[in-house]
Amino acid sequence: MPLPFFSSTVPSIKDRCRDDSATKLRLRYAPYYHAIEGQVGTAIRLQGRDMVMLASNDYLGLSFHPKVIEASRAAISKWGTSPTGARVSNGSRSYHLDLEEKLAAFLGKEACHIHAAGYLSCLSSVSAFAQKGDTVLVDKNVHSCLWEGIRLSSANIERFAHNDPADLRAVAASLPEASPKLLVVEGVYSMEGHIAPLSGLLEATSEFECFTVLDDAHGFGVLGRQGRGTADHFGLTGRVDIICGSLSKSLASTGGFVSGSRASIEFMRTHGKQTLFSAALSPGQTGAAAAALEVMQTEPEHHARLWENTRTYKAMLNGLGFDTWGSDTPAIPIVIGDKQRAYAFWQALLEKGVFTVLSIAPAVPPGKDLIRTAISAGHTDSQLDQIASALAYAKKKAL
Ligand SMILES: Cc1ncc(COP(=O)(O)O)c(C=O)c1O
Repeated sequence: MPLPFFSSTVPSIKDRCRDDSATKLRLRYAPYYHAIEGQVGTAIRLQGRDMVMLASNDYLGLSFHPKVIEASRAAISKWGTSPTGARVSNGSRSYHLDLEEKLAAFLGKEACHIHAAGYLSCLSSVSAFAQKGDTVLVDKNVHSCLWEGIRLSSANIERFAHNDPADLRAVAASLPEASPKLLVVEGVYSMEGHIAPLSGLLEATSEFECFTVLDDAHGFGVLGRQGRGTADHFGLTGRVDIICGSLSKSLASTGGFVSGSRASIEFMRTHGKQTLFSAALSPGQTGAAAAALEVMQTEPEHHARLWENTRTYKAMLNGLGFDTWGSDTPAIPIVIGDKQRAYAFWQALLEKGVFTVLSIAPAVPPGKDLIRTAISAGHTDSQLDQIASALAYAKKKAL
């Protein structure tokens, strides 16, 4: 029996799960974990009603492309449903190597490695390279997967202000010269839709050797020639050491990639725990991504339509006077600035058949509570009209 002064008031893990206030709040308002009941492209069925999806990351609208679906089916027929093992042991297949070669060539890098999730790829892009004693210079707004990679690496962390080369320069100037350094940024920030000022950021670190990691989950397929991404957009592919990203956005699949020099990819395959000890990407997902990559290069109309839709949507939002946080890309937030009104706005859009994602603090900075929206090449003119009237309605009702 525990002595009284050792008996703890710390709740058990079971109590912690049952009594967690954040979970209770989430379940009460229920704006998350919606199970969509049916889908064809940007048309979805939710709660028994037909709606427009305005928050997917299927930027090029390829997830229902016949060639992508057929390639995924064919890969499963040929290879079964799963490689059931890690790449290092029993899980490597020739279809992995095919996609890796094609992605590396498309991105302008020597080599590439694909993982079963974008989260794993981006986390590994930091954790496999940074070590204790190194310093990671990181934009304070990067995605959770990069933060987790940084924490796992045990390197020192130096944050700089979002997209601010001058602050990066100031932070970098205060560091001891000897310690190896990594710069960690995103190409396009998913919540804000901002493009990283890559030239300025690389310039700010040009006085010392700095290993640069660029998470281009939201730039790939969107920026650059044929959608090669942010580094290509700026003509700086050769100056970025690692370009990582996701297959779950423009490539209409799931999984992720890490590309770089042959030496860096082989180093990650030797030292990256997530690369070594996690099962390989499944045949169906690899087949879909490979076909989508092919479509990106042979059917430029999807990229063109994405930007045409983005311009139309941006003009619509500007016309209604919304704050879009200066987004330059198809990922466009509508900043409401207050949790309750953001929730009411999100609900009013849902009432009018438009599905978006509510993002509130602490997921966004205080006062930036917002509705995350993302446009797709798949949105039709009539869906854009429906979105316009839903936005006008939500503005009237909730703001
Ligand atoms: C910037 C960024 N990096 C990485 C990821 C992880 O990709 P995935 O969802 O495919 O695992 C995401 C996902 O949203 C992301 O936004």
